[in-house]
Amino acid sequence: FKLPNARNEENLHYAVSSPERAQLDEALRALRSKLPLHVPLYVSGMSRSTTQSLTSTMPSEHAQEFAKSSAASVEDVQNAIRSALEAKKSWQKTPFVDRATIFLKAAELVAGKYRYDLVAATMLGQGKNAWQAEIDAAAELADFFRFNVSYAEEVYNKQPTLNAPGNFGRTDWRPLEGFVYAVSPFNFTAIGGNLVSGPAIMGNVVLWKPSPTGVYASWLVYQILLEAGLPPNVIQFLPGDAELITKAVYEHKEFSALNFTGSSDVFRSLYGKAAEGVVSKKYRDMPRMVGETSGKNFHLIHSSADISNAVKHTVRAAFEYSGQKCSACSRVYIPESRTQDFLEQIKKEMEPVKVGPPEDYQNFLGPVIHKGAFDKIVKIIDKANGDSRLQNIFGGSYDGSRGHYIEPSLYVANTLDHELFDQEIFGPVLVAYIYPDDEFEQVMARIDTQGGGFALTGAIFANDRAVLRQAEDTLRYSAGNFYLNCKTTGAVIGHQSFGGSRSSGTNDKAGSANVLMRFTSPRTLKEEM
Ligand code: SER
Repeated sequence: FKLPNARNEENLHYAVSSPERAQLDEALRALRSKLPLHVPLYVSGMSRSTTQSLTSTMPSEHAQEFAKSSAASVEDVQNAIRSALEAKKSWQKTPFVDRATIFLKAAELVAGKYRYDLVAATMLGQGKNAWQAEIDAAAELADFFRFNVSYAEEVYNKQPTLNAPGNFGRTDWRPLEGFVYAVSPFNFTAIGGNLVSGPAIMGNVVLWKPSPTGVYASWLVYQILLEAGLPPNVIQFLPGDAELITKAVYEHKEFSALNFTGSSDVFRSLYGKAAEGVVSKKYRDMPRMVGETSGKNFHLIHSSADISNAVKHTVRAAFEYSGQKCSACSRVYIPESRTQDFLEQIKKEMEPVKVGPPEDYQNFLGPVIHKGAFDKIVKIIDKANGDSRLQNIFGGSYDGSRGHYIEPSLYVANTLDHELFDQEIFGPVLVAYIYPDDEFEQVMARIDTQGGGFALTGAIFANDRAVLRQAEDTLRYSAGNFYLNCKTTGAVIGHQSFGGSRSSGTNDKAGSANVLMRFTSPRTLKEEM
């Protein structure tokens, strides 16, 4: 047999009066009528609700409770590990074709039967508009399931090509010996699906701690995997208090890997704690640390650039999903000779932009995720508004009365030393620097050294081929995903693998065979005949 070639799920467009818009509206209505949603744990093959719970509210309407999720206890974590390790005995021996088929079927359920439920959950729970929710919870999620099957096949096919006469050498792509701990973020429903499906497809068992603010969409993904035929104990679903769960996970000697997406600070701390366990010989393995974290991503505009293209891409990269993508652009460098053009066009582009509830299709920006995020961004905006080194070009206001709404905002700094070039905001705030055209090289050098130590995504806009080449060279380590004449966001599975180095993570590249290999413990075999 040959497994089907992976293909990208096409995005639906939700045009006015289209059948898909009607179906999505129906899913939104149905979901609203069930609020607040109750999310259980799923441990040892059973769902269970606990008296302890975590409540999340709707980011677009914070008076409305969105989900109450159960919270795992230390005992739940211990039971989850026990059942997962028991399940591993048969899961790792399940033929690859059977494991693969489960994820291919899950992709069909995502793209078909559950598409609108997933999109609606991501809109109401995580504040994405319909198009942003569609590219995430429908297309990218299905893509991760399908492409991870192909990448797994690619790994299994990696075998020695040379054998001495009378020898037969081969690689046994074993899963890790213990279990994998997956910690997923709120900002992409698809990322949770990837963090658990990648290791599981390679024969591992996984403990999944979803983000409290993305928990309902994650629960849908989990149920889809079960419906597709995943044996219940292969992935254990453990919402709850991050510190408590991590502590219980990290106590276990069979902890073999962390698969994490979230903030750099949290990843550093999880990395450090795992290292302590390694030093004290707590674990049988040296656990693999796989992390995709934050960014302070840049657009560098050269004087030869097509300004209208650069503006369109900058607006989308900086402000889509209110700047809450780890790949979002948050600093832009503009040549003096093109500044007037750039600023006029970007203002014009931003004028019709509306901020408001994601269920209203006219809104380009929704809310930010929760009060903590809102308060942090508001503090930055208030400070920026009173800062004589900054000029506000548009935005600079917010309204937290109903939901966590922040106007997309652009500031021009009169110095490259401004802290906004280093500070991660994770909101719709963009800082610009206008450089003299003949200082292009110096600015490029600064781009590499500023940006808070992150190196996730970056982009150069230029029509001059020599400049593109020069930027590719000078900014070689400034971004794990480097884009030429296009925005820093929107990597497509199968086209652009994704991840960064330095403070942005271990750069194992989501959407590649490379990251799946991290969840294997290959055994080399040599047989003499
Ligand atoms: N992969 C997403 C992007 O490229 C971010 O996680 O925008």
